[in-house]
Amino acid sequence: MSKSKIAAAVLFCLTCTAAGWAQADIKAIFLDKCSICHGEDGTGKTAKGKKLKVKDIHETVTKESEADMIKIATEGKGKDMDGFGKDYKPDQIKGLVQYYRSLAK
Ligand code: HEC
Repeated sequence: MSKSKIAAAVLFCLTCTAAGWAQADIKAIFLDKCSICHGEDGTGKTAKGKKLKVKDIHETVTKESEADMIKIATEGKGKDMDGFGKDYKPDQIKGLVQYYRSLAK
């Protein structure tokens, strides 16, 4: 194999695994950091979710845009929903919000 072909193969593998990991990571972060309140299914019907009156994604998805939710996930809202802007990169927050919204489908 020529050097350029090897380089192309390596590059291809790096980008494909990076994309694959990113998806898996987002779901793992949601389950780890968000589902305790929002529920694995996004309905917020967890002990903590009920106590904090977390809304069901099936309702909020029609009321709040993706951009609204990205803002809330980044900056926080009220005393119970923390902003995660210091923990995650903007594209991770966007991924989390998209994953969260996808639970309503
Ligand atoms: C300690 C409980 C808690 C955790 C953990 C939590 N949230 Fe929330 N979240 C809330 C509450 C409560 C609200 C509703 C705030 C309001 O409308 O006053 C909320 C609202 C939101 C909203 C706005 C849509 C809505 O339901 O009003 C988004 C988006 C959101 N959370 C994303 C996340 C993401 C992403 C994570 C994980 C990185 C996360 N949350 C972790 C409690 C939590």
